[in-house]
Amino acid sequence: MRFVATATAIALAGMLCSGAAFAKTITIKFSHVVADGTPKGQGALMFQKLVKERIGDDKVKVEVYPNSQLFGDAKEMEALALGDVQLIAPSLSKFDKYTKQVQVFDLPFLFDDINAVDRFQASPEGKKLLTSMEKKGFIGLGYWHNGMKQISANNPLRKPEDAAGKKFRIQASDVLLEQFKALNANPQKMAFAEVYQALQTGAIDGQENTWSNIYSQKFFEVQKYITESNHGAIDYMVVANTDFWTELPKDLRAQLETILSEVTVQVNKMAEELNQRDRQRIAESGNTEIIKLTKEEVDAWRKAMSPVWATFEKDIGADLIKAASAANTSK
Ligand code: LMR
Repeated sequence: MRFVATATAIALAGMLCSGAAFAKTITIKFSHVVADGTPKGQGALMFQKLVKERIGDDKVKVEVYPNSQLFGDAKEMEALALGDVQLIAPSLSKFDKYTKQVQVFDLPFLFDDINAVDRFQASPEGKKLLTSMEKKGFIGLGYWHNGMKQISANNPLRKPEDAAGKKFRIQASDVLLEQFKALNANPQKMAFAEVYQALQTGAIDGQENTWSNIYSQKFFEVQKYITESNHGAIDYMVVANTDFWTELPKDLRAQLETILSEVTVQVNKMAEELNQRDRQRIAESGNTEIIKLTKEEVDAWRKAMSPVWATFEKDIGADLIKAASAANTSK
């Protein structure tokens, strides 16, 4: 009898111990909307791998949910605020509801290329934006690149007038709304996960995105033309729930931030390569014609979209726009 009681006590103690150990495992759900083979998809997987190798998933378990599997882009920010996910990396265009300043990234033809975007993000003004939403519950941990945007459609878009009257899907950003209105087109805000079907059924005529997204979401299969306009960028801010992140044990938080910085360097190094690889795949598919623009044609698009700057100058701030423009010249 006594033996049974002792054995039960030992078993109970064991269960409690393993329960305690289990309770100590921190789960980081990393939800995003793109495919694994894109810069963001690769970054999320790299983060998961390094956390497992260096910290161990008995302590921190990273779960990655790509392709809007867990939350689409309309819901992922709410989910982060509620603590249903711990890490997300929305495109900078999608912070529109939370900060006007981050909209600087959406101004058409602001950045000459992704290197200019990189220089601005590394500047004091760019870094400051990472902390601009902390009080709203989002703490920015870094910027990840995707790449420059191109415009796809079923009619050839060589001149800005060619876009008039066409329906274009845009991300949830008022700057992008005005950008297409400046072309006399009909912009429609839509979640990323819905774009393929909307293109396929003809609910929309076109959209703007990076080569890696156009390829991995198969948009090119339902679009006859892609104009290589490079008129803007799609980049990401990796954000955590402020309370979750600041309440992590100090040493663990430092370890996770070190890993994240390393991943950031890697993602930003490979993003352009992944985009060029996917541009090549689209070109080789023979399905879609890539329209290259002359310098004069690019200037016509720039001119047509330029009124957007004045519309948003007050909200974004003239100094911030100036700092971003300055990043076009490398020092
Ligand atoms: C889009 O909605 O077009 C992109 O922001 C998706 C992404 O995360 O790259």
